[in-house]
Amino acid sequence: MADEIRTIGVLTSGGDAPGMNAAIRAVVRQALAKGVRVKGIKKGYQGLLNEEIVDLERSSVSDIIQRGGTILGTARCMEFKTDEGQQKGATICMKHGIDGLVVIGGDGSYRGAQALSRKGINTIGIPGTIDLDISCTDYTIGFDTAVNTAMQAIDKVRDTSSSHERCSIIEVMGRNAGYIALWCGVANGAEDILLPEKYDYNEQRIINNIISNRKKGKTHHIIINAEGIGHSTSMARRIEAATGIETRATILGYMQRGGSPTCKDRFYASIMGAYATDILCQGKTNRVVGYQHGEFQDFDIEEALAMKKNIPDYQYEVSRALSM
Ligand code: ADP
Ligand code: F6P
Repeated sequence: MADEIRTIGVLTSGGDAPGMNAAIRAVVRQALAKGVRVKGIKKGYQGLLNEEIVDLERSSVSDIIQRGGTILGTARCMEFKTDEGQQKGATICMKHGIDGLVVIGGDGSYRGAQALSRKGINTIGIPGTIDLDISCTDYTIGFDTAVNTAMQAIDKVRDTSSSHERCSIIEVMGRNAGYIALWCGVANGAEDILLPEKYDYNEQRIINNIISNRKKGKTHHIIINAEGIGHSTSMARRIEAATGIETRATILGYMQRGGSPTCKDRFYASIMGAYATDILCQGKTNRVVGYQHGEFQDFDIEEALAMKKNIPDYQYEVSRALSM
């Protein structure tokens, strides 16, 4: 491990998330303020292995805090899951004088950070994912923007759904996690919310619900379906056949990952980026930054990855009760 941190690297990895640019900016400016140089590694671990490394100055991160995506680019890299790939990555860091690294991404990216840490490169993770599914933190960068983007889109679908007296299935992102679906379900007043963590695949219950709501005079029926359950189009066909009510599926898709970050995402990303830089410069390694109980904190990566996070039962029960 380097005794004194003189140069740090920063990379974004896994799925992009609005606010990643704000985090990059914070890392760069906090480091430069401490007299530490910064190198940007492009396209995640793939860019590290390809030595796509650039110097970052104050001006390199001007005019990016309001932009979605990541100026460094991101990627998924299978080679980095191998010991040879990780050793190569550590060797490249040393060759470029990078003695500390900030990794902005999700759980998978933390595994890569942990591997680099074991190979002697001080590494700190920052939670960057729209899915909110990182256990050691109540907040992940990108969630607020994504969930607001989805909420606004669902409001629009609801308008047309009501006009035509249709049923609408709206699929939101979340392959393994239902947080976006839960939040939109509550915020959009959906009649049904299907979460990977909770859905029992009882389609007849949904059909009965639609028929009973129609009898009560409801002109629309909104079903928020998480990507992890999927099959929205075929579900719509089956529901239409069973209920006789016109049913349409809308898959919101990647629009949820883009766009200008909300104030909340910019703020959390800025504080987390600065925090990660601070602890890196204090000589910490193999840590991940999180926000819990109203405070920014850091956790050992192994412990963070071992923590469990579930949709809170109470929140789910409330979402069901309010949709009746
Ligand atoms: P996220 O970081 O959003 O969870 P992924 O799970 O796709 O996204 O991980 C991003 C990248 O992190 C992977 O493409 C790979 O390069 C690296 N990574 C994932 N798992 C591991 C692992 N077990 N060991 C080393 N690197 C990993
Ligand atoms: O970033 C998280 C996420 O949006 C998940 O909800 C989704 O499963 C995944 O990314 C899809 O990403 P990609 O298609 O880029 O692999």
